[in-house]
Amino acid sequence: MKNANNVFTRTNRIVIRQFELQDIEAFYQYRANPSIETYQSWENYTYEQAESFVQQQMTQTPDQPGTWFQYAIALSKSNQLVGDCVIHTLDSEPRIVEIGFTLAPEFQGKGYIHEALSSLIEYIFTTLNKHKIIAFTDVRNEKSIRVLERLDMRREGHLLQNYMSKGHWVDEYQYAILQSEWAAKRH
Ligand SMILES: CC(C)(COP(=O)(O)OP(=O)(O)OC[C@H]1O[C@@H](n2cnc3c(N)ncnc32)[C@H](O)[C@@H]1OP(=O)(O)O)[C@@H](O)C(=O)NCCC(=O)NCCS
Repeated sequence: MKNANNVFTRTNRIVIRQFELQDIEAFYQYRANPSIETYQSWENYTYEQAESFVQQQMTQTPDQPGTWFQYAIALSKSNQLVGDCVIHTLDSEPRIVEIGFTLAPEFQGKGYIHEALSSLIEYIFTTLNKHKIIAFTDVRNEKSIRVLERLDMRREGHLLQNYMSKGHWVDEYQYAILQSEWAAKRH
């Protein structure tokens, strides 16, 4: 499923690979950035949390029902970590996966996450042969909504007070795309 360089899938500009020890500092820097954590569950992310998260991800295999696997997104030319994307294989229905994504602030606005997620979706539907991909986003997260709609994911639900974020219930949109919809789009 991944090649000898720990790469799962790639495009011209980026690779989606397993996390490596050298990613810890960059991962910590963007996770601790206030602009990144606004719509995320964590607060005051520490270097120690980043270190143990990366070390733990290095030992994991993607697509185990009931688990989350975090892929590193790195530049093809330099192998610099620029962000990450995650798949959550549902325990109750492993043919459906949930995705999530983050890009370091200095690498936003260049289309990297669109490129990474297009490649990840192709990998999920072809290599992993999944039936459906879903994603949840805070309804206030305009950048995330733009990313999902640019991928032609459909908004299939508005879930009221669905998520406890920093002491407040927040509404989420659920987006989705079926394998058949993705295949039709490609042809
Ligand atoms: C959500 C997030 C990943 C979006 O990042 P992003 O940089 O806006 O998304 P992309 O990498 O796809 O870049 C798209 C932007 O780059 C622009 N762009 C510039 N050069 C481009 C190129 N060569 N190709 C494509 N787009 C390009 C696009 O016009 C677009 O800008 P716009 O949205 O203002 O129209 C980022 O805001 C983030 O990490 N947020 C914090 C974490 C988070 O909330 N995650 C979502 C949880 S569900």
